[in-house]
Amino acid sequence: MQPILETRSLTKVFHRGSLLARDRIVAVDSVSFTMRRGEVFTLAGESGCGKSTTARMILGFEQPTAGEIVYGQDEERWHPKVWYTQRIQAVFQNPFETFNPLRKVEGYLFETVHNYKLASSRAEAVELINAKLEAVGLSYGEVQGRYPSEFSGGQLQRISIARSLLVDPSLLIADEPVSMVDASIRMSIVNLFRRLRDELDMGILYITHDLATAYYLGGRIAIMFRGQTMELGPVQEVLMHPRHPYTQLLRESIPEADPRKKWRGRITIAETEEEEYLRVGCKFAGRCPKVMEICRRQEPQLVDIEGVQVKCHLYVDKLSVKEVS
Ligand SMILES: Nc1ncnc2c1ncn2[C@@H]1O[C@H](COP(=O)(O)OP(=O)(O)O)[C@@H](O)[C@H]1O
Ligand SMILES: [Mg+2]
Repeated sequence: MQPILETRSLTKVFHRGSLLARDRIVAVDSVSFTMRRGEVFTLAGESGCGKSTTARMILGFEQPTAGEIVYGQDEERWHPKVWYTQRIQAVFQNPFETFNPLRKVEGYLFETVHNYKLASSRAEAVELINAKLEAVGLSYGEVQGRYPSEFSGGQLQRISIARSLLVDPSLLIADEPVSMVDASIRMSIVNLFRRLRDELDMGILYITHDLATAYYLGGRIAIMFRGQTMELGPVQEVLMHPRHPYTQLLRESIPEADPRKKWRGRITIAETEEEEYLRVGCKFAGRCPKVMEICRRQEPQLVDIEGVQVKCHLYVDKLSVKEVS
């Protein structure tokens, strides 16, 4: 089956600071992946690794500096603009920012129906809105006449998802959709994504720094660090048998279920961010427990090891050993 979305060496460079002292930040550095219908693909990594910038380029909010995005090969050829305004829908982190507190929530739903001309009468609009709300476990009756403050964060996030379903998208981009939602209902929203994937055959680009929900969603995952893909492959394989030292560290930094225990090996980032962006060689070399001399001077290539792509010199060596034996 043809991919519904493909990024090819997608790159975004930002310049920061004053004209005289400008920093060049490669926020997204040659990121390539494909997505198919009915598949969850997760972008994971610490804050600032380029996840949202990748999503924003796919959504057409940012222009790539280099590389390309190919939309919708498996359908009739859509114009990219049509694709990212209609076939792709997005759900963002903070549902309270999505909705204006002074405006009734149903207004957003009717507005989408109107903008995309999805119904020819009010009754038809209500019927469509109700169907999409039911798909996320709510109903029009529960939403009618109410303001955002009358809902919980989890309910608002569901309403936001229902709104994105109105246009029957092929791809849903969910950027940290549960990070501001109460832990107790986080799983119910993650379950909802699983249902959308299975029942509507939708592709879901799931963005998170939380590996537990990524694991539960399944599919494939790309572990990003400083704009680069460090490891990419089936979630089960990448998280249960991480090859890249960064993935290993990230996995160990998942908070313990037991709150009395401290976070193990928790990663701090802020201080070294600039330095890591500018580093030649492997971006992770400064923090890598397995760093070798070559890592500091030469950037490793992404190599394929049994279906998992890994960007690490440890495995470049393994590959050549394999060839010899
Ligand atoms: N509009 C922008 N201008 C300058 N730098 C930006 C801009 N947007 C993002 N960045 C920088 O790009 C990097 C990646 O950011 P982002 O994609 O938001 O990461 P994530 O979503 O993984 O937390 C960060 O260093 C961020 O500060
Ligand atoms: Mg982000």
